[in-house]
Amino acid sequence: MKQRTPLIAANWKMHKTGPEAVEAAEKLGKLCRDIHDVDVMIAPSFLSLPLVSQALKRMNSHIHTAAQNLYFEDQGAFTGEISGPMIQAAGAEYVLIGHSERRQFFGDTDKIINRKIHAAIRARLTPVLCVGETEAQRDEDKTFFVLDKQISDGVKGLDSDMPEELILAYEPVWAIGTGKSAGTEQIAQVHVFLRSLLEKHFSREFAENTRILYGGSVKPDTINALMDVEDVDGVLVGGASLEPETFIQIIGFRK
Ligand code: PGA
Repeated sequence: MKQRTPLIAANWKMHKTGPEAVEAAEKLGKLCRDIHDVDVMIAPSFLSLPLVSQALKRMNSHIHTAAQNLYFEDQGAFTGEISGPMIQAAGAEYVLIGHSERRQFFGDTDKIINRKIHAAIRARLTPVLCVGETEAQRDEDKTFFVLDKQISDGVKGLDSDMPEELILAYEPVWAIGTGKSAGTEQIAQVHVFLRSLLEKHFSREFAENTRILYGGSVKPDTINALMDVEDVDGVLVGGASLEPETFIQIIGFRK
């Protein structure tokens, strides 16, 4: 039996205006009012984040909110950036860090990601560290090497700046938004490996308490098989999280 509460997380990426995000969040809040055995999280755009957080609070919803990114300095002359304290004040408890789209399109290196994780912890936000290999890296049999580096570099210095909680999301880059999901056997292997890395960098207890999510083309018809995998503690969902009626089918997976 898993001790870790499953976390079903939505990454809305650059979708939905403020009013659209609030409408979807309120709809979802109503749909999952009676679901208490699963944690639910939404990561809307920065502009929608305070609106969505306030709307959920108004309806006493237990849905958590997250930012999709943050800057690694807390304040200063950094035009266009958003800091951890700003995200905290906007009502979020979590922040995605190192999503593959940030790594691919916005130059987020492992070193930058490490600084962002420290910034999140300073702001009392739970980091959701996203890792995953590209198709070429998988074809070259470098998956475990790549993940090892992403985790080692990502959590550097955290033993002395220990996060209260850390969440990992394994998202093979070739599975994101492509309709191709990784096979359950491969996901199982990777998740066991990631947990062993957490044990190496932190402790056995920390590794056992840490939730490791899978992400990449998760759909209502694949959720049950994914959640049956021993070390999968939840999912990070892009496309299939945009419509509340679809996302609720993922949240309400069969255990
Ligand atoms: P997808 O996105 O579900 O659309 O593949 C997942 C993600 O990028 O987190």
